[in-house]
Amino acid sequence: MPAAPQSQPRLQVEGISKSFPGVRALQNVEMHLQQGEVLSVVGENGAGKSTLMKILAGVQRQDSGSVRVDGKTVSFASVSDAMDAGIALIHQELNLADNLTIGANIFLGREPRRLGLIDERAIHRESARFLKRIGLSLDPGTLVQDLTTGQQQMVEIAKALSIDARVLIMDEPTSSLSAAESERLFDVIRDLRSQGVSIVYISHRLAEVQELSDRVTVLRDGELAGHLAEDQITHGNLVRLMVGRDVSRVFSRTPFPAGKVAVEVRGLRTSTWPAHELNFAVHSGEIVGIAGLVGAGRTEVLRTLFGADAPLSGEIRIRGQKLTVTSPVDAIESGIALVPEDRKQQGVVLDMTIRENISLASIHRTARSGFMNFAAERRQSADMCEQLRVKAPADTIRTGNLSGGNQQKVVLGKWLSMKPHLLLLDEPTRGIDIGAKQEIYQLMDRLAAEGIAILFVSSELEEIMGLSDRVIIMHEGCITGELSRDQLTEQAIMTLATRQASAANVQN
Ligand SMILES: Nc1ncnc2c1ncn2[C@@H]1O[C@H](COP(=O)(O)OP(=O)(O)OP(=O)(O)O)[C@@H](O)[C@H]1O
Ligand SMILES: [Mg+2]
Repeated sequence: MPAAPQSQPRLQVEGISKSFPGVRALQNVEMHLQQGEVLSVVGENGAGKSTLMKILAGVQRQDSGSVRVDGKTVSFASVSDAMDAGIALIHQELNLADNLTIGANIFLGREPRRLGLIDERAIHRESARFLKRIGLSLDPGTLVQDLTTGQQQMVEIAKALSIDARVLIMDEPTSSLSAAESERLFDVIRDLRSQGVSIVYISHRLAEVQELSDRVTVLRDGELAGHLAEDQITHGNLVRLMVGRDVSRVFSRTPFPAGKVAVEVRGLRTSTWPAHELNFAVHSGEIVGIAGLVGAGRTEVLRTLFGADAPLSGEIRIRGQKLTVTSPVDAIESGIALVPEDRKQQGVVLDMTIRENISLASIHRTARSGFMNFAAERRQSADMCEQLRVKAPADTIRTGNLSGGNQQKVVLGKWLSMKPHLLLLDEPTRGIDIGAKQEIYQLMDRLAAEGIAILFVSSELEEIMGLSDRVIIMHEGCITGELSRDQLTEQAIMTLATRQASAANVQN
């Protein structure tokens, strides 16, 4: 006689397989989820996490295998089928309608009606109730486009609550949240768990996974690599199961021989923070990190240097030459590249192939006498895909079909193949797995050694400290200090990031 099951899992997944042309995304995967527990699903980019979640949420169908909810086998033909079974998915790339209000988004397609008309008052009242439940004090009439990413994330959760989700799946919810917003989200997750909601949590940030999870399921190359419970959930165990090897020395920065000034910024004022003048320089072969809290004005600095935002005043010099950048085209012409933080909006064209995206910024370099040099384009794309370990059957597939992290690598590849003088990177490893992060760090190190000046923004202190020769710290649009590599401590950075410049720490 088999042992009696302890308790009926809320969700039981067995033998799930799913292939796309040329890719086996999932093979014979097993996973289960109890009532009121937080299960994290981790794995490298392209391991199959999002695909599994899309199957559970009725977005895609498995080729084989079964899904049971409370012991009953289910087969979802659509998202609304899954919702009826109490399963809601918050996508890796948020899915709200920007031009609608919070309330309209929460009840989109399920609007309460009165006498045949949409009952706006009911929408308002009910939305307010769900927002309150997750501790969000926003007017349901606010347009979604006016919310921060963190607030949008919360609206997605409110929406899931409104369908009475018993299983809430979050695919990389914190990848664009500030530290404070993440903490808020964790409180909400714990609160939902105590109310009996089961949570599936996906993240590349292993510290979060350790903090939140009751159990962890690890995927590797579409297969189940293992399950971990409670005290087994250690950084070492997670990495070993995910990557199949030890990733110990993540950062390796070769000491840099000071080169010439590559870019110099004088008296630069951005429209977001018009009261502050920014002054700094980056040398050839130097990696400079910009640290600060979300909203400190770091992205604006990069966008202004790239000509995406117009400066109010100030001067930018590239290799001593005064530059007038009024558009990204000018910037690219002058050898400036920007890898933006938002890959979906600004980074890649999802409908183009990987190869087309990679050659996009460097087209004038591969084009000969007005004709495209296809051989050069092919070689360059193959090189980049290999260097960055883009997981795809070929570089001729649609970029939109790649996993989120692999799309990010294509964005990087696109700008790196331009061989810029100044490389601007905004959160370069957001959504990228630990193994590939290491590749990107090594690549940055190598590019600097080739003489490229690198200026990057990151919210991960570890990354800032591990890679930078020098760090510029910003607070509310103002540079509050600069630290050289030997002065870098977490505390020194945080102190400067959380206070205004005082006479003592402004150099120059
Ligand atoms: N619609 C699709 N068409 C073709 N291939 C796809 C499609 N969706 C996913 N894939 C492929 O399936 C594999 C698994 O992708 P998935 O998005 O599930 O990975 P992931 O674990 O979520 O990765 P990441 O951490 O980068 O988000 C990848 O190789 C991906 O390119
Ligand atoms: Mg994914």
